[in-house]
Amino acid sequence: MALRQTGDLSRVYPASRPMTAGIGSSAPRDPGNNCHKTQESLLSSASGYKNYRGVLNWCVVMLVLSNARLFLENLLRYGVLVDPIQVVSLFLNDPYSWPAACLVIVSNVFILVALYTERQLSKGSLSELVGLLVHCINMAVLLTFPAAVVLLVPSVTSVGGLFVLGTYTIVLLKLYSYKDVNFWCRELSTMKAKKLSRSLSCKSHIRERKVCYPGNLTLRDMYYFIFAPTLCYELNFPRSPKIRMSFLLRRLFEMVRKYLIIFFSFCQWMIPIIQSSMKPLEVNLNLSFQVPNHLLWLMFFYWFFHSSLNFTAELLRFGDRQFYKDWWNSESVTYFWQNWNIPVHKWCLRHFYKPLLRRGFSKMFSQSAVFFLSAFFHEYLVSVPLRMFRLWAFMGMMAQLPLAWFVGRFLRGNYGNAAVWISIIIGQPFAVLMYVHDYYVIHYRQEGE
Ligand SMILES: CC(C)(COP(=O)(O)OP(=O)(O)OC[C@H]1O[C@@H](n2cnc3c(N)ncnc32)[C@H](O)[C@@H]1OP(=O)(O)O)[C@@H](O)C(=O)NCCC(=O)NCCS
Repeated sequence: MALRQTGDLSRVYPASRPMTAGIGSSAPRDPGNNCHKTQESLLSSASGYKNYRGVLNWCVVMLVLSNARLFLENLLRYGVLVDPIQVVSLFLNDPYSWPAACLVIVSNVFILVALYTERQLSKGSLSELVGLLVHCINMAVLLTFPAAVVLLVPSVTSVGGLFVLGTYTIVLLKLYSYKDVNFWCRELSTMKAKKLSRSLSCKSHIRERKVCYPGNLTLRDMYYFIFAPTLCYELNFPRSPKIRMSFLLRRLFEMVRKYLIIFFSFCQWMIPIIQSSMKPLEVNLNLSFQVPNHLLWLMFFYWFFHSSLNFTAELLRFGDRQFYKDWWNSESVTYFWQNWNIPVHKWCLRHFYKPLLRRGFSKMFSQSAVFFLSAFFHEYLVSVPLRMFRLWAFMGMMAQLPLAWFVGRFLRGNYGNAAVWISIIIGQPFAVLMYVHDYYVIHYRQEGE
């Protein structure tokens, strides 16, 4: 409309003819040179404007300012609570006994058993059934042995226990993937032998200098996979051409810096809040716990999924750096779980969800089974190191299914996104707080009494 008017005006007063009548000498000499055009305001969605960098910075500044008071109060009331000795005591009860480190070294036995079994299977010295049985026993022991040690050996600290069980769980998921992929390779070579298919033959791989089965069954290949930032095995991972030193050092610097910030914030900010809210059954819903817990979780996300995994990938020249996608834009709970932890999601899809679907199970059943498995591991990783079985983590994970249904059914767009954020900001710290509360009641209440 305005554009049409502009056009009309320029026709009435052409640029070559100055408009002076009734306006005086200060009137514009060139009325055709208009200062308006048809355009949307930047904040209208129709403008297509998307650069909200400044708004993001504003959010960060607001967050810092609104929490600085609490932070300063803590500093004035309790002094500096950060104690480097505490870092060591989180991992070790006794400086001469390193059970967590020993357990991590022992995990190599399970890795070697899996490799040896696969080698025997490739040579035909073991039948598929016996091979599967050995793998199953190996993985069952991998799951139960560290849990038993953590529960029975008092010198394993909670943080040490979490580190051990985390390592063993990662190894377990990797070995499961290793077993599956090698089995698929054997199936494929049997099929090829039957069809004598040239297109799938190994010769093309040799030309491209790629590894083909059973040439992958080496110590070097196995340990590359164990250290690579993925849970899904492949014979030929995408590789980056070289290690970029500047990228590597930037990630290392970020890792150290973020670790120090997380540790400092935890000691100075969280511990006083936890201690002040430890009255039985007092559930802190006034966001004084939720906000710092959530910020620490966000920092942990960046520290682990961006800095640490990229550092490892760069060091190993591992090409696939998609460790997360834009989960912060999730408009549904399903989208969040598909995108926030890509290594776990990929493993779930490839080794659990799709095999269930292929066996004829319904989508609903398969999704529930994946969430059940995930809930089990969440509970395992929290309850065993804390030596306290409460099922909060399990229930929190299982609650994702009805929550996903509710958000998907009733909320869309920004409302859906807000619902996901609220579930992360309030739901997850709630589960953490329940564990902290119960841990405190069990350990310190009794001591106090
Ligand atoms: C359960 C879960 C795996 C479902 O994932 P999803 O992406 O929503 O699953 P979808 O139904 O959309 O299907 C995914 C894939 O299965 C395929 N698929 C769907 N139905 C299929 C069927 N009947 N047969 C074969 N394949 C099928 C789809 O084509 C799709 O394939 P693609 O990945 O190649 O595109 C996912 O929500 C998940 O990972 N949850 C747990 C996450 C978790 O616990 N993380 C822990 C982080 S700490």
